[in-house]
Amino acid sequence: EGNKKVCRGALVVLEGLDRSGKSSQCSRLANYLEGQGISAELWRFPDRNTDVGKMISAYLTNTSQLDDHTIHLLFSANRWEKRSLMETKLKSGTTLIVDRYSYSGVAFSSAKGLDIEWCKAPEVGLLAPDLVAYLDIPPEKAAERGGYGGERYEKLEFQKKVAESYKALHDVSWKSVDACQPIEDVEKQLQEIVFDCVTECQKGKKPLSLLWS
Ligand code: TMP
Ligand code: MG
Repeated sequence: EGNKKVCRGALVVLEGLDRSGKSSQCSRLANYLEGQGISAELWRFPDRNTDVGKMISAYLTNTSQLDDHTIHLLFSANRWEKRSLMETKLKSGTTLIVDRYSYSGVAFSSAKGLDIEWCKAPEVGLLAPDLVAYLDIPPEKAAERGGYGGERYEKLEFQKKVAESYKALHDVSWKSVDACQPIEDVEKQLQEIVFDCVTECQKGKKPLSLLWS
């Protein structure tokens, strides 16, 4: 090991209902950071490329049926299988822009009626985000946006319950952004809060922490 201290990257998570604009904002953010000379990668959960991710994808597209607890644990396992790579990347200075994380896991499963503490338990010990940007949109507005893609959870009545569940998860790392604004305005706000977060992490005084403690 050399004696030069590498500044760690930031763990930035975007959360929100389906059709809240997360995915396009995540890629815009990753491009923006690269343009600022900040090493950044775009990640997403579920990561449908792994074996576990393929099971999740089959469930979401209704080609398989699974018990609610089982699919919850698979979503969590899908994050655990990426945990060590995540830590390595962050410690080597790469900022990660992550499209959904444990908050989706808990919000969607508890919206089905599963106990919230039970839902949180398998997430304990995963890396805690430095920033969670919540793209806030009324469920009705999201549903109007070009319609849903037809996956399992993309139904207005269910999304209303998810919106309620998300509210129980807000903590100090959360910043809400009004996702009903024009896409460029959302982008600008995200750039500002993410840039501040990356700068803060680069100072080296904020160690990585763990969910959910
Ligand atoms: P996606 O549309 O972002 O690929 O996510 C697929 C769906 O899976 C979306 O409706 C949210 C849901 N989901 C969970 O239920 N639990 C989780 O842990 C994650 C990451 C997503
Ligand atoms: Mg979706």
